[in-house]
Amino acid sequence: MKRTNQPMPNRPYLDASVQWRINSGQLSLEEPDYRSVVEAILSAGLATEVVGLISAGKEANVYLARYNGAPLAIKSYRLYRTSHRGGGPVKQDSMGWRAAHEYEMMRQAWKGGVRVPTPARRVENRFSMRYLGTDEGPAPRLKDVVLEDPKGFLDQVLDVIRRLIGAGVVHGDLSAFNVLVHEGEPWVIDFSEAIRVDRAGSSPWVRLTEARAALESGLAALQVYFRRYDLRIDIAACANELVESLDRFGVLH
Ligand SMILES: Nc1ncnc2c1ncn2[C@@H]1O[C@H](COP(=O)(O)OP(=O)(O)O)[C@@H](O)[C@H]1O
Ligand SMILES: [Mg+2]
Repeated sequence: MKRTNQPMPNRPYLDASVQWRINSGQLSLEEPDYRSVVEAILSAGLATEVVGLISAGKEANVYLARYNGAPLAIKSYRLYRTSHRGGGPVKQDSMGWRAAHEYEMMRQAWKGGVRVPTPARRVENRFSMRYLGTDEGPAPRLKDVVLEDPKGFLDQVLDVIRRLIGAGVVHGDLSAFNVLVHEGEPWVIDFSEAIRVDRAGSSPWVRLTEARAALESGLAALQVYFRRYDLRIDIAACANELVESLDRFGVLH
């Protein structure tokens, strides 16, 4: 098998000193195509070692990998098998498009200074990014965490949403499932449904309507989580403020 040795962009963001206690034996190998996915990741040069599966989702899996020792997360959109010949390449292409969209949205957010895992490289239906976690395992999802300072954390999450808008991105699938708690701070992941709100593309008011709906449903999903701390998010007021900030940042003009 051929392994390429291209330098990783943004390498300094990866912590090469992490000692892994997780090894392939401990992590799930239940995924049927595990070996072929590993082969594909290695031959694409996205990683030099795949440690194991972190998450098996509906449309994508996330793997823990290493690039010359440095930890990485790799999100791999699944290619569905179809019965007819010729179905494969079409599906591969649409999943490549999904990965490209998510990768670009993360890149835009990261360039705008938002706390998201630094995207590193994309090859077809997979991309690599900074791994959030320790040698004990990946950072927990907000939904699985009990917060010491819930009000402070909610404010931080709202600040992340605001910064995302400043970067021209509305997340589109925000919830306590897609916020990881790493080193005490919220990190937003999963930009598969993200909406680009800037000069490019469809007419501003279509974007505005779409963006507002996405913001409101994201805030409502977060409200479900924060209710356990008796915290309320004024969804309408918050969405208003955020949509107005779209104008302030000039992203709609
Ligand atoms: N950069 C990362 N570092 C550590 N864990 C991650 C990272 N990205 C994703 N994960 C883990 O993988 C899970 C699924 O990732 P996500 O992007 O939300 O995919 P899905 O589309 O399946 O929801 C997350 O809940 C998280 O536990
Ligand atoms: Mg998710």
